[in-house]
Amino acid sequence: MRSPQFIQLHQDDDAAARAELAAGLQAQPAHVAPKFLYDALGSRLFDAITELPEYYPTRTERAIFESHRAAIAEAVGRGRTLVDLGAGNCEKAAAWFHALAPRAYVAVDISVAYLRQTLATLQQRHPRLPMWGVGLDFSAALHLPSELAVGDSAGERLLFYPGSSIGNFTPAQALGFLRETRREARGGALLIGVDLVKARPLLERAYDDPLQVTAAFNRNLLRRLNTLLGTDAQVEDFEHVARYDEGLQRIEMHLQARRALRLRWPGGERQLSAGERIHTENSYKYTTTGFGALLAQAGYQDPRCWTDEQGWFAVFSAQAG
Ligand code: AVJ
Repeated sequence: MRSPQFIQLHQDDDAAARAELAAGLQAQPAHVAPKFLYDALGSRLFDAITELPEYYPTRTERAIFESHRAAIAEAVGRGRTLVDLGAGNCEKAAAWFHALAPRAYVAVDISVAYLRQTLATLQQRHPRLPMWGVGLDFSAALHLPSELAVGDSAGERLLFYPGSSIGNFTPAQALGFLRETRREARGGALLIGVDLVKARPLLERAYDDPLQVTAAFNRNLLRRLNTLLGTDAQVEDFEHVARYDEGLQRIEMHLQARRALRLRWPGGERQLSAGERIHTENSYKYTTTGFGALLAQAGYQDPRCWTDEQGWFAVFSAQAG
């Protein structure tokens, strides 16, 4: 049996995280980047979100993958190196191993620690597949490590970015990111999940569920601020707000102060008036035409698109050319 190899590029730099958080909190309006939502508890709360009846993206994407497995595999090509961006528990990619017969599997996530356990287990189920775990924060830039070339001799790659996480980028950032995926694909292809524009009530229910799991996911960020930055935030002082902005085609998540308060941390503070918000996430929605145009702008060719019957979610393939 082979064993997975690991490359850690992202160093959890507490000082950099503190500086980023402090700058965001002191900005007008206050904001915190969505990557901070995913500590151990936040990741579990997100997994719980994907089980909610109101949160349609995960199950809709899975249904599209399952209904069109063979056609999608045909479009993206078999035997390539499968690069899984934001791999997490690697389950979504593993479901493709049979249809895609990848020559190697590269799981990329911000936390290589988590990938160690997951890949060790996955390797037992796929003893002959070369596997790599790469710890990398690709929200800033996507540069896969050159060490990968040793076991992955200049082969064409399939860049896999499911779950509609592309929605966390602004459209301008998304374009830059797509260009990076195209370069990293080395003449291979892209397979990506994209959430689609739809009626406001459906969107707002998906991000403000009656069980309030999404509220817990968002409010958990306050605990994260207390741990990382040393703030004294009280979870009870903040309300979860999720609003769809039709003009910008995005869901915004905010933490709204229930009363006037002051957040203090070593070296800084931020006053919030009652009702003032900390912006914690954008989740952009696309039309199939709009996303097709973005792929073309990024230099991708031969885009193909699969959607569910209701037109809620889209899976795109495209050739890096
Ligand atoms: C993981 C970024 C795809 O935007 O739908 C879920 C995160 N936020 N509920 C999304 C999220 C609130 C999710 N992504």
